[in-house]
Amino acid sequence: MSGAGTCHGHGHARNSLDAARDNWGMRLVRPGVEYLASYRAALEHAWSPNTTDSAAGRVELERIDADPVAFLAAQDDPEGSGEPITLPDGSVVRRLPGYRRWIWDGDFGGMISLRWQPGTAALPPHVLGHVGYAVVPWKRRRGLATAALRELLPEIRGLGLPYVDLTTDVDNLASQKVITANGGVLVERFTMPAAYGPDSPALRWRIELVDQ
Ligand SMILES: CC(C)(COP(=O)(O)OP(=O)(O)OC[C@H]1O[C@@H](n2cnc3c(N)ncnc32)[C@H](O)[C@@H]1OP(=O)(O)O)[C@@H](O)C(=O)NCCC(=O)NCCS
Repeated sequence: MSGAGTCHGHGHARNSLDAARDNWGMRLVRPGVEYLASYRAALEHAWSPNTTDSAAGRVELERIDADPVAFLAAQDDPEGSGEPITLPDGSVVRRLPGYRRWIWDGDFGGMISLRWQPGTAALPPHVLGHVGYAVVPWKRRRGLATAALRELLPEIRGLGLPYVDLTTDVDNLASQKVITANGGVLVERFTMPAAYGPDSPALRWRIELVDQ
């Protein structure tokens, strides 16, 4: 993929400063069979790629075991042709075009995902932002999520989107720092749609992608 490989390749011995700069060799990879065993191991260690659904990891393990090729294909769905999405209240909505990239530092480290409506930056109200990410607990606080978002943004710009919106919980300081480190600004505090539960406050953030 276009964004891969930008964070490594120093031609001299690594020291801790190099390691911090290149984020331990982090790159984003298109989900592929060569990475699947490491991804599967993360799921087996109870990691869930879905921050609002801790059971999602178990469901994914079943899908991988049933049909690994179909599972991998579904990670990359720029036509939005995959199965509909079930929201936390059980309501079912159309899937938007989207794709996932896996954060790879020699092992699986997490995932970052994008969803969007072609031709517009607008999102349906039930879609809580264009970008989501999650890092496995044993690789947090190393800059992986910050680097992953930084690497994805040029790709999103290439799709013609003038900005991306992201939603965080009010108390998710780590995620908020990932956004502000990438130029994001707070748009508003809002109440999530009822499908996400009663009285669920959240913060909406925006990263402009066009040159100011
Ligand atoms: C949010 C998350 C993706 C951050 O991943 P990460 O790779 O650890 O993030 P980074 O290492 O790039 O850290 C970003 C910043 O947050 C800070 N940070 C990380 N964890 C933190 C925590 N628990 N509390 C406060 N700050 C934290 C880091 O120190 C860093 O700040 P700095 O640049 O000032 O040092 C990760 O914690 C996670 O997967 N959480 C569960 C899923 C989730 O919340 N996803 C986002 C949904 S909106």
